[in-house]
Amino acid sequence: MIKDIFPEIKYIGVDDLELDLFEGQYTVPEGMAYNSYVILDDKVAVMDTVDARKGAEWRANLSGALAGRTPDYLVVQHVEPDHSGEIARLMQDYPAMQLVATAKAIQMLPQFFEDASLFEGRTIAVKEGDTLPLGSHTLHFILAPMVHWPEVMVSFEEAAGVLFAADAFGKFGALSKCGYFGEEDDDWACEARRYYFNICGKYGAQVQALLKKAAALPVKVIAPLHGPVLREDLAQYVGLYDTWSKYKAETQGVFVAYASIHGGTAEAAHKMAEILKAKGCPKVAVSDLAREDFAECVEDAFRYPRMVLAASSYDAGLFTPAYNFLHVLQAKTWQKRKLAIIENGSWAPSAGRVIKEMAGTMKEVEIVAEPVTIRSRMKASDIPALEALADAILA
Ligand code: FEO
Repeated sequence: MIKDIFPEIKYIGVDDLELDLFEGQYTVPEGMAYNSYVILDDKVAVMDTVDARKGAEWRANLSGALAGRTPDYLVVQHVEPDHSGEIARLMQDYPAMQLVATAKAIQMLPQFFEDASLFEGRTIAVKEGDTLPLGSHTLHFILAPMVHWPEVMVSFEEAAGVLFAADAFGKFGALSKCGYFGEEDDDWACEARRYYFNICGKYGAQVQALLKKAAALPVKVIAPLHGPVLREDLAQYVGLYDTWSKYKAETQGVFVAYASIHGGTAEAAHKMAEILKAKGCPKVAVSDLAREDFAECVEDAFRYPRMVLAASSYDAGLFTPAYNFLHVLQAKTWQKRKLAIIENGSWAPSAGRVIKEMAGTMKEVEIVAEPVTIRSRMKASDIPALEALADAILA
């Protein structure tokens, strides 16, 4: 699909509705978009390519947008394969075209392509603050290392005020589903949040650095590499990114996550949710770590300021889904949260000990009370301890 952002700046990206897992692990029930753009001025710049899975469709879009013209530059903001799949082919097709990227990106390119000679003498390494005049349009390059790889940069086109934002401000979902400008999207944050915390969540400080640089620019349009082009009420998107990258909670409430072998732990978790609601907690989200989308569980751990983790003991440790969950939270630098623990064990409860050990490695994660221990099945005699734990997590 070719869409005009402005007459001289066109969207030429593609949807992938057949993809089973993005980055080999994230479900994408609404598909995925690999965005790409072209700027047509005295000089012609192509802004990133797409995943090779959709190369033929992208080349047709590019050809349609070029209308017989020849690209002078290919700007590579990010070399991850979902954006770099067509670089080699483009370099072959347009032998006079030059590739513009950070030195780090140029250094990484041969890792992805067999024929490194394609790039010899045809690359322009740009650094922070460098510009590329195209005619009436000028690109300004802003380095954004670790948003989401080390070689990343974003580009600001000053005449139209377009920030080509690389992976930042992206979301899961095909644009034919949510609208190219998000016009069919009644909840951008839902899939943008899942995308952010699972893909960029580890790099809050680096996202903050980028937001500070972007705040100094007169941005009118955000053109990310995934998700719709954003051109209205940009403050809401920037505000969410600011909250997320500062590891601040977005929604007041408690996330109750559980991992249950035979249903006893699940029963205790649901009872805890019921108690929290009865005590007036504004929002209680409950997830089964073994059965629900894991990336959504990670998202909810970041979304709320407080979490109750209920888990069975297993192999003298922690039941696998809960262990995996905490492992991912460690990797994503989950922090600044309150945590309450419910453990279940039939002969030697061990889940609480492992949760405490893992949470102890995290920054500013406060365990609000000693774990409540359930023995096989929750009984009426366990309710006072759950009530007290609810009071502790809400305090
Ligand atoms: Fe969309 Fe980090 O690649």
